[in-house]
Amino acid sequence: MQNMSPIEEFNAKANEDTDREHEMQLELLQKLCLALDSGAMATTVHQILSDLIDYSEAHFMSEELLMRMKSYDDYEEHQGNHSHILEVLRDMAARNIAGKGSLLKQKAHDVTGFITQHIATRDKRLADHVRLGL
Ligand SMILES: [Fe+2]
Repeated sequence: MQNMSPIEEFNAKANEDTDREHEMQLELLQKLCLALDSGAMATTVHQILSDLIDYSEAHFMSEELLMRMKSYDDYEEHQGNHSHILEVLRDMAARNIAGKGSLLKQKAHDVTGFITQHIATRDKRLADHVRLGL
């Protein structure tokens, strides 16, 4: 980070942190899919889903804070995606607890696809915006 102004350093660090958080989120999603595909016990699925929900809540909050700091123009839609993802994950956790896990496998793959797409589009746009110091 040599020859960077403090704001450039902040922006670079923010994007690095976000990338790391996305990797962690995708790892947890992969763990969830693997557990469901291999018919893991509901208690195991519950633990992974709880970790994923907690991690996603914290990650989305930091992204939303960054968007507000940057007066980001796509805030509403982007935040709407985050709310949708958390709703899906919480619904999955409730179904798992209620013993209605039959659709969870498909839902886990669907939400993984949605999050992957979110990272490739809305998060990528935000990272470009931050990188350019807009
Ligand atoms: Fe995001």
